Amino acid sequence: MAIMEWKSELSVGIESIDNQHKELVAMIAELNDAMGKGKGREVLGTIFDKIIQYAGTHFAYEEKLFATHAFPGAAAHKVEHAALVKQALELQGKFKAGQMTISFATLDFLMDWLKKHIMGTDKQYTQFLVGKGVK
Ligand SMILES: [Fe+2]
Ligand SMILES: [Fe+2]
Repeated sequence: MAIMEWKSELSVGIESIDNQHKELVAMIAELNDAMGKGKGREVLGTIFDKIIQYAGTHFAYEEKLFATHAFPGAAAHKVEHAALVKQALELQGKFKAGQMTISFATLDFLMDWLKKHIMGTDKQYTQFLVGKGVK
């Protein structure tokens, strides 16, 4: 499976947000790398926690911009963030309870999660936020 790499098609045209998305992509690559090297549960769990935590910080950053600039699509976008967090926390809970291992299916889920959200939903705010001078 090809690991997710940063590509220009993922750019939302706002540098501060692209940088955060790049960080998430890098963390997923780190998880893939650790799995490839056969790292144990503890290492994988730590990276997984870091991804979930950073995603939360990133979602909060976007939502703050929506609030500051009164982005009309904020409500629907926030619903999507909340659903993504819920799914990730469910996986995290299962992992911590020993009901799940972090596998390539988990990576697939994370990549899909990020890619679909960035390309489908995040890009919908580009024009509006760039118009407000957000960089
Ligand atoms: Fe985002
Ligand atoms: Fe978003």
